[in-house]
Amino acid sequence: MGYIEEIKRRRTFGIISHPDAGKTTLTEKLLLFGGAIQEAGAVKSNKIKKGAASDFMEIERQRGISVATSVMAFEYKGYKINILDTPGHKDFAEDTYRTLTAVDSVIVVIDVAKGVEEQTEKLVGVCRMRNIPMIVFINKLDREGRDAFDLMDEVEQKLGLKVTPMSFPIGMGADFKGIYNIWEKNVRLFTGSNKQRIEETIKIDDLSSGELDELLSSRSAEKLREDLELALGIYPDFDVEKYLSGEQQPVFFGSALNNFGVAELLDAFVEIAPSPRGKETDKRMVEADDKSFSGFVFKIHANMDPKHRDRLAFVKIVSGVFRRNVNYLHVRQGKMMKFSSPNAFFAEKKQVIEESFPGDIVGLHDTGNFKIGDTLTEGETMNFKGIPAFSPEHFRYVNNADPMKAKQLAKGIDQLMDEGVAQLFTLDLNGRKIIGTVGALQYEVIQYRLEHEYNASCTYEPVPVYKACWVEPMDPTNDEYADFLRVKSRFMARDKDGKQVFLADSAFSITMAQEKYPTVRLHFTSEF
Ligand code: G4P
Repeated sequence: MGYIEEIKRRRTFGIISHPDAGKTTLTEKLLLFGGAIQEAGAVKSNKIKKGAASDFMEIERQRGISVATSVMAFEYKGYKINILDTPGHKDFAEDTYRTLTAVDSVIVVIDVAKGVEEQTEKLVGVCRMRNIPMIVFINKLDREGRDAFDLMDEVEQKLGLKVTPMSFPIGMGADFKGIYNIWEKNVRLFTGSNKQRIEETIKIDDLSSGELDELLSSRSAEKLREDLELALGIYPDFDVEKYLSGEQQPVFFGSALNNFGVAELLDAFVEIAPSPRGKETDKRMVEADDKSFSGFVFKIHANMDPKHRDRLAFVKIVSGVFRRNVNYLHVRQGKMMKFSSPNAFFAEKKQVIEESFPGDIVGLHDTGNFKIGDTLTEGETMNFKGIPAFSPEHFRYVNNADPMKAKQLAKGIDQLMDEGVAQLFTLDLNGRKIIGTVGALQYEVIQYRLEHEYNASCTYEPVPVYKACWVEPMDPTNDEYADFLRVKSRFMARDKDGKQVFLADSAFSITMAQEKYPTVRLHFTSEF
């Protein structure tokens, strides 16, 4: 197969949802369809159980699962599908944001009874900012839930999307009878009381056929015809170009648990979802079909065994062919590196590969060379953009609890920050270090891992910081900027890359600073 065909047949995507909406179940069903696993239950949920905040075994268990399920690749109808796993727990949202930098499209799972939930809103917001093509899957139709039209309304209003249904449910809960596939214009019905088996579905290509009345009852058949007339009247036709540019989102209905609507979703997905897209660098736009290899690190996973300090850096290939044992340029470090055992990931295993194509993810063993956002090329000095850090939500001073272990602590913190577990800020004034995280859980994870992996111990101290604002002076030489730095000197810090950050103590102080220093721009992400 030629290089271009290899790119065209790849679909690299992520599934996002609020915890419990059914992401793990859907992932599993997709893998079953692809023949990548043989039975349900093979994909472990990576959720952290409630109340697990101080249960470190649970955290370690979760880390173990998250490396196993980081990427799940399988073949389906000639397509190579890469599913990138995204943690649902909100304390790990930063990890999910970063994974979204490596996907070419997204499937959003929504629970039919719960509708749009908090975590869905946040994650969809990030996808919308980047115009990532999204498909919505409304799940758990076998349960009593909300009306399909209400839900689509809510998706439009709360998530700011423009939807068009591609399938439509026939009944719901106990009355759930099946799905009308608007995309392929046919009906699939459950037969009998067993809703578990996909084989027991009947295809009907003509909606006006009397067979539909016989199978559904005339009332249900009439209701379906009415619903469809309304749906087709209200919503625009599906437009693949609009979907690809993030202006329209197709909606599917189904039940992942009962395997219903999943085949429709997958068949439409492989057909419409984008093949690997290009990515912007600080020098130029890199297209997937550019011949020379380039890629970037979007995730780093530390070894679970403290005796082996190596880590696995996950690289998304943007262009060209990645080959084993070939020298590539690590742009930030300006050095050539080659990799003797790059890993590719499949549903239940990882294996050493000889070559990989755009859209694929390779796992590279690393002894501390990589951090998130690093670029690899065949020699060109350019850096991929669009892998920003977001302002953390929680901030604490970190102190060394064992003066004999200062070096271990510094190294441990350094490496955990490279992995993206949290962000480190160093105050300009006195060099004190502040750790910022998305969730409070991370502080315990850090403390635990410092102790077990680096033999170092730390304590935390509260610090009244509300948000980290990355500072961009429109004119770094003007008096206004000098004044800003002087007045705010107690709050000025550097992030890990040495960028200037203002650690504001309240929303009010941000507003005040913006009013008083209009030529000093404040950003909530590190890339602007
Ligand atoms: P998540 O990864 O998004 O957090 O959700 P997950 O797939 O783990 O699903 C959450 C719960 O919802 C699970 O039940 C799962 O079985 C159930 N579920 C998923 N899809 C459907 C569906 O289409 N219909 C119904 N009725 N339930 C569904 P659980 O009791 O929490 O876990 P388990 O013990 O069944 O694994």
